[in-house]
Amino acid sequence: MPEIHVPAHPVWPLLSAPEKEALKDRIKALMREQNATLVAHYYVDADLQALAEETGGCVSDSLEMARFGAQSRAQTLLVCGVRFMGETAKILNPEKTILMPDLKATCSLDESCPVDQFSDFCDQHPDRTVVVYANTSAAVKARADWMVTSGIALDVVKHLHAQGKKILWAPDKHLGAYVQKMTGADMLFWNGSCVVHEEFKGFALERLRKLHPEAAVLVHPESPDDIINQADLVGSTTALINAVREMPQDEFIVATDDGIFWKMQQQAPHKKLISAPTAGEGATCESCAHCPWMAMNALQNLETTLLQRSGEIFIESSVREQAVHSIQRMLDFAALRK
Ligand code: 13P
Ligand code: SF4
Repeated sequence: MPEIHVPAHPVWPLLSAPEKEALKDRIKALMREQNATLVAHYYVDADLQALAEETGGCVSDSLEMARFGAQSRAQTLLVCGVRFMGETAKILNPEKTILMPDLKATCSLDESCPVDQFSDFCDQHPDRTVVVYANTSAAVKARADWMVTSGIALDVVKHLHAQGKKILWAPDKHLGAYVQKMTGADMLFWNGSCVVHEEFKGFALERLRKLHPEAAVLVHPESPDDIINQADLVGSTTALINAVREMPQDEFIVATDDGIFWKMQQQAPHKKLISAPTAGEGATCESCAHCPWMAMNALQNLETTLLQRSGEIFIESSVREQAVHSIQRMLDFAALRK
């Protein structure tokens, strides 16, 4: 397994309110000139999420980001998130220009799964249907039968299990274990994990729940099982946001990246949100519940991206032509469920 280098969180210069407004206005003008739309994930900076909404773009989970890009009429998609999200947009929209503020914004799951080793693993198990999580490179998706996101993984695996298929699953072992537990499918796992969700501590969560006995616990399934086992609801980022709006509780303990709080608070301004603990015995950080790669997106480098037309995603056509099948299979499946 390759060693994952986790970068420090970038520190962006603070902007005064008028400076921020001026910067946003310049970005909006550039977007109009370039017929560009902003597609942002819930984990990126709140200013970027707000800008995406103000300009008719999209703020969503990775499933909806893929869908939105494919439906958008814009010639340029500005993808604020991590690299696999930009790559998925390019695979689905080869005629569009896909720009990202920082091409180094990767993901520990993606990095844990180099295509050569993954291909060998698949070759050793030719009897298994290969299902990969969206958080992988285009080359890994090209080797897969199906791509899934957290929002649809359970349904796809249930469907395959009902057909008697055995599954090779990569790269997230925690999400894989959760899906296996819920579906009873025969699954063989790659050994990857998300460095952000893996920091949540089960025993510290138990203590926090005692302090907030009325709070509902919302958990993203990239979390370890001692966190998932304490959840009132496990789901994709969109499912967690909907839960804050729709569940009757006034308090929520949230085990996922804290960038999501902006959208949760927008949807349910009077509810109290508490980040699940990453501190405690054996912990290496106080509160690391924020993805260092998502944090590489900011208003400042978004403006530079537009000015220089930098950060463009390119994918070799042979890889794209293969990878599109596993993604399209998921989108077709999702469309049938609607
Ligand atoms: P969602 O598809 O639930 O938004 O998850 C993406 C991700 O990277 C979570 O860490
Ligand atoms: Fe990857 Fe985890 Fe960051 Fe999501 S939060 S992009 S899974 S490292």
